Amino acid sequence: MKPIYIGLLGLGTVGSGVVKIIKDHQDKIMHQVGCPVEIKKILVQDLKKTRSVLVENNLLTTNPKEILNDSEIDVVIEVMGGVKDTKGFLLEALRQGKHVVTANKDLMATHGSELLNVSSLNGCDLFYEASVAGGIPILRGLVDGLASDRITKMMGIVNGTTNYILTKMSKEGRAYEEVLKEAQDLGFAESDPTSDVEGLDSARKMAILATLGFSMNIALEDVLVNGISGVTEEDLHYGNQLGYTMKLIGYAHRQGEKVEVSVQPTFLANHHPLASVQNEYNAVYVYGEAVGETMFYGPGAGSLPTATAVVSDLVGVIKNLRLGVNGRSAVTPQFSKCLKNADEKFSKYFLRLHVQDEVGVFSDITSTFANFGVSFEKILQLPVEKNKIAEIVLVTHTASLNSYEKILNSLRDKKTIKEIKSSYKVEGNS
Ligand code: NAP
Ligand code: HSE
Repeated sequence: MKPIYIGLLGLGTVGSGVVKIIKDHQDKIMHQVGCPVEIKKILVQDLKKTRSVLVENNLLTTNPKEILNDSEIDVVIEVMGGVKDTKGFLLEALRQGKHVVTANKDLMATHGSELLNVSSLNGCDLFYEASVAGGIPILRGLVDGLASDRITKMMGIVNGTTNYILTKMSKEGRAYEEVLKEAQDLGFAESDPTSDVEGLDSARKMAILATLGFSMNIALEDVLVNGISGVTEEDLHYGNQLGYTMKLIGYAHRQGEKVEVSVQPTFLANHHPLASVQNEYNAVYVYGEAVGETMFYGPGAGSLPTATAVVSDLVGVIKNLRLGVNGRSAVTPQFSKCLKNADEKFSKYFLRLHVQDEVGVFSDITSTFANFGVSFEKILQLPVEKNKIAEIVLVTHTASLNSYEKILNSLRDKKTIKEIKSSYKVEGNS
């Protein structure tokens, strides 16, 4: 029986997992698709590198043409990462009539619609399940499982590295740099972990989720992004005292025609379902008007979990080949993009201030909030050892982003406010 031949671009963390799953699960794959699957060539940078899986040397190449120009190769699996070269390789593969499976959220968040367009024009599949939340089948969940519903809200922990860091910092009191290094060693982090810790990796995933969930072309630039590199042990400590857990939360909300998408360090009430998601695990909460609340949970990064999603996409491509329906699954967005403005975005906020410890300062802060119609849900005041400074930690009731930004600007102008130490979104009632 003629095998389906695969060209694999990349043999790092995810690529090694793909090789292992194709080998170890060959029987199950064959049972589902009716033919063997064989990796014919693997593109790498360094032919001499020691690999974590056993592959024959003659499979490795540094020349992409050996895959892109090989007419026997049916499917290209891209797990090398990067945008510029990779986009060129995948466009070439699609033009050559090869189906593509990719784990590359960077590429899909920035050039996804162009690539999907080219794939449809060439009658090819382009699947990218592994690009969001590693091993969790969230994209199929949205596109197929919830196809009949109108999704209005998605909230997710979609970056394993930052969740690992925040978990270890808050549960074990460990230092940021040390746990970041550990996440890198475990293969969760991107080659440049700045995109993990500064929230860009999550923003790419939220752009993909919002585009599919809201059927609207959401670009990376539409996502408001803040990372976790500025989060301090003191912030975690005070949040904990008030009943909150810090997570890097991707938030996508639709109200009527309008949407907002953001990625921000957020204090979750301890009983919030996302607060218990630990280490490299990811979870996406999805609210549909008809179904109500749903939650998708699982490992969001790592070799085998991510490779599971990649190989499941491969199985999808081969099933489509058997049915002769490749290239028909990309759907044009139903709605034009319409983003909320700051008056239409609502949240509660955590604010930590250093203020002059003297009469009238507290009431001045209270009246500044009152002037913009914002009241407090919680408040803590503690002395700071030196210079007659007091620490004020407060959580507001729900306020518009517009009012909250005006309050911050007004506080910045006051001589008695020495420093705005930190400010975070808050979700849930504690
Ligand atoms: P990785 O460990 O750095 O592996 C990248 C592989 O691609 C390496 O084998 C490397 O070759 C090869 N490569 C890179 N640039 C190349 C080039 N220009 N030409 C030829 N080969 C090249 O990366 P990874 O963690 O597996 O991630 C791969 C992709 O999956 C990325 O898009 C990432 O965002 C995505 N992803 C990763 C995870 C995860 O948990 N790691 C989860 C979901 C999605 P050498 O080995 O010779 O250096
Ligand atoms: N660097 C990513 C993470 C890999 O930590 O979640 C999975 O996309």
